[in-house]
Amino acid sequence: MLIMIKGGQVYDRETGEFVKQDLLIEDHQIVRIAKDIQATDIVDQIIDAENRIIVPGLIDLHVHFREPGFEQKETIMTGSMAAARGGYTTVACMPNTRPVIDTVETVQSIKKRAEEAATRVLMYGAITVRELGENLTDMHELAEAGVIGFTDDGVGVQTSAKMKEAMKKAKSLNLPIVAHCEDNSLAKGGCVHEGVFAKQHDLPGIPNEAEAIHVGRDILLAESTGAHYHVCHISAKESVRLVREAKSRGQKVTAEVTPHHLLLCDEDIPAPDAMWKMNPPLRGKADREALIEGLQDGTIDFIATDHAPHTTAEKAVGMKQAPFGIVGLETAFPLLYTHLVCTGILTLPQLIDKMTYIPATTFGLPFGELAEGKTADLTMIDLHHEQVIDPERFHSKGRNTPFKDWKVKGWPVLTMLNGKITWSESKKTIKG
Ligand code: DOR
Repeated sequence: MLIMIKGGQVYDRETGEFVKQDLLIEDHQIVRIAKDIQATDIVDQIIDAENRIIVPGLIDLHVHFREPGFEQKETIMTGSMAAARGGYTTVACMPNTRPVIDTVETVQSIKKRAEEAATRVLMYGAITVRELGENLTDMHELAEAGVIGFTDDGVGVQTSAKMKEAMKKAKSLNLPIVAHCEDNSLAKGGCVHEGVFAKQHDLPGIPNEAEAIHVGRDILLAESTGAHYHVCHISAKESVRLVREAKSRGQKVTAEVTPHHLLLCDEDIPAPDAMWKMNPPLRGKADREALIEGLQDGTIDFIATDHAPHTTAEKAVGMKQAPFGIVGLETAFPLLYTHLVCTGILTLPQLIDKMTYIPATTFGLPFGELAEGKTADLTMIDLHHEQVIDPERFHSKGRNTPFKDWKVKGWPVLTMLNGKITWSESKKTIKG
């Protein structure tokens, strides 16, 4: 199968420029990128990319696809379709499923289910058995089965000794510890950030230190063990400061931030409505500013959505009772393009790199680049098309988003994984 993508503005990471070029894709590989490729006669399909940008397939290293165990919220199939619609070609699933991804059998059964998925589905193994924080999983076996790192995401590892043991093991396996940072004794059953909104509505708050204490503790543990330590969904300004300081000493500490923490703060929450409930919670204004600054100066390495679907019924029970989490895969790029690039906070190449090349290289994955000889993972985006976010149109089973009715532009229009089209808004073909 030979496919040509014609006349798009192709992103060149080396120069940071968009150059009008054609791409020739043979089976799963990009075989040529050049101006005006003359191959109309021999190709099976020509896709018209006029007025579109073409970027590497987006990469989200923090998603919850809920399978096995919570298929009413999402499945690998619906989650991966949501990802493809959002322009993603590679995702990494968190292990807080039922059973937890803590054995080789579970890793293998997810791999099997993911064979037909619309994205490449990578996964993490749990740090502790059933994410209970007590006994380490067989990290060696999990690594051999192909997990890309270790995390108890959804909960923090409460004891320092257990985290240190896990880091030593992760270091010997050359894989990262990907930490959900939350000290339960400080978070104490809170449901929103301990700030303006919590006070106004008399809701139990989660203070910044609940996160930052773990970040500080773990940076020290990673320093002594030599492990690669990665902070999940960083949200507090103190955590940003700690990561910045660790990086300045040359330590291998990395971090990710979500679109919602970059775009919203607790004062934006209109009313106690669980569509605005996630963990970590939307923080204060100064935190949001620190996250943006951290993303700009490279303290925060990349963007991940923490796509966390829940059913409408689960989210309808109020701020205190509802589960934490919002969906993110189908709205991340247009939201960030509209609110960070169009406002001059990031350049378009910066945003693209933080959603492709940087997550890939941070975790040593061979994706995230458009070049001859590379796997044909790519996304075509219409930067000008403006559309209102309509959760009813989501491919995800989750409708839980605070961004309903936001008007944003920069929508992915076609996604290709391994040379196969996994999603297309309205495929404009010239041939085939
Ligand atoms: O908001 C969240 N939802 N944060 C987490 O850490 C877990 C996730 C979930 O699994 O729903």
